[in-house]
Amino acid sequence: MIKNEELKEIIDEIDITSQPPEEEPMRQYYFIKAAKAIINKKSHELGRNLTAGVITFGCQMNAKDSEKLMGILENIGFEVIEDESADLVLYNTCTVRDNANQRVYGRLGLINSMKKKNPEKKVALCGCMMQEPSVIETIKKKYKFVDLIFGTHNIYKFAELIVAMYSSDRMIIDIWKDTDKIVEDLPAERKYPFKSGVNIMYGCNNFCTYCIVPYVRGRERSRSPKDIIREIEKLVSEGVVEVMLLGQNVNSYGKNLEEKITFAQLLEEVEKIEGLERIRFMTSHPKDLSDDLIQVMKKSKKICRHLHLPLQAGSNRILQAMNRRYTKEQYIELARKIRQEIPDISLTTDLIVGFPGETAADVDETIEVVREVQYDNAFTFIYSKRTGTPAAEMPNPVSDEEIKENFDRLLSVVQETAKSRTGRMKGEIHSALVEEINEHDSSLVTGRLSNNTIVHFPGDESLIGKIVDVKLIEAHGFYYIGEICN
Ligand code: SAH
Ligand code: SF4
Ligand code: F3S
Repeated sequence: MIKNEELKEIIDEIDITSQPPEEEPMRQYYFIKAAKAIINKKSHELGRNLTAGVITFGCQMNAKDSEKLMGILENIGFEVIEDESADLVLYNTCTVRDNANQRVYGRLGLINSMKKKNPEKKVALCGCMMQEPSVIETIKKKYKFVDLIFGTHNIYKFAELIVAMYSSDRMIIDIWKDTDKIVEDLPAERKYPFKSGVNIMYGCNNFCTYCIVPYVRGRERSRSPKDIIREIEKLVSEGVVEVMLLGQNVNSYGKNLEEKITFAQLLEEVEKIEGLERIRFMTSHPKDLSDDLIQVMKKSKKICRHLHLPLQAGSNRILQAMNRRYTKEQYIELARKIRQEIPDISLTTDLIVGFPGETAADVDETIEVVREVQYDNAFTFIYSKRTGTPAAEMPNPVSDEEIKENFDRLLSVVQETAKSRTGRMKGEIHSALVEEINEHDSSLVTGRLSNNTIVHFPGDESLIGKIVDVKLIEAHGFYYIGEICN
């Protein structure tokens, strides 16, 4: 991972009157400089800095992409802000469920009127939703004012696309179907100075039948361990103490690399990085979770006591229709083994209600697993039909009312178990990474325990980014109120 000063030096030396180089990332450094010249000129004419706002709709991987896009914007000379009043607004979209798409269309409706008042304003769209051809058709028809659209595979080209956008009056569209390329050494902004997400792999090969992610994120590609370690070392040198290793299925990390390495082995390497205090990762697919990983987690001093292990459904018939490739019994056995080896771990999960053909009896089986595994928390979703996925072709005789009833029934069990689990550490002392001043009460700070539970306690700004011992005094459902111990 390139250092910011090194990047600045390289960019300074580029001559933009010559042709752009072909190879990456040099080509993008060239376009960063070319875009900078355009933005400087515009700032000069306006007598103020140009602003850019990036709005993120999706998961941690989407948020990480936003940080990369913001890094490029910053290097180009934009003042990066977090709202839509900006001169350039970029929506980084998600399409995992239909409501994510609806939110984007809603925002586009609003921004149209802002653009009418300020024709210089630019609107750009990127992210998973843009990988769907039907979405591009809708935008071309109904949202003609959009200036730039790109997808998930070419975000590294953002500077080049910005130059194209400012050089044309037409909508620029650049969507790739897939890629096997990983471009390293581009700049990135960070939302928090003390923690950061780190991509370890891109894409997904699992094709769960309900899920659109493999279609919009492409085939699985792992980054080389050297690049990952280098990036984390750089982050640590800048003050980061916690990293979250990101991938749609981190347990299959390394499978496409020439150099043989497993996720468990990668974690052992990351553990060795001096100055790094905490390691998290997301997401684990139960079918690939190895005994080696459990042992590495058990021995580790840095890997957090939290595992997100999406179950999705508890009925074997539904799991099979979902193409999850494990049974209810295998999942329960895996969870039992993890809890036995790492008793202080917290387990969280994702659940879907309303998959085609799922009956109340099937949902009873999901509830049974929730009771058995005792999740510390669970995200419960209503199934959303995604065009192009196998499940979209499956008939669903179950009514919306029944689905809603099943959902409510499951949710209440999820909340009940989560509440009783969270309370279990009351009275104990645990270390917490302080993340921010409490949103509602500025005399408190908010910290995160190793097992991902939140604790609020008296403190001030000077504690942000520090890991401190906190006594957990009161349990309030999903969080604690505590007191710092010195
Ligand atoms: N790769 C991760 C999850 C990515 S999507 C994994 O396999 O765990 C995050 C969650 O969204 C999924 O776990 C699933 O519960 C939910 N999800 C995905 N597609 C969905 C759909 N079509 N309808 C409802 N929920 C969905
Ligand atoms: Fe979607 Fe399944 Fe891949 Fe997760 S593992 S991203 S749910 S296809
Ligand atoms: Fe993430 Fe949504 Fe894409 S969940 S991978 S941003 S579809």
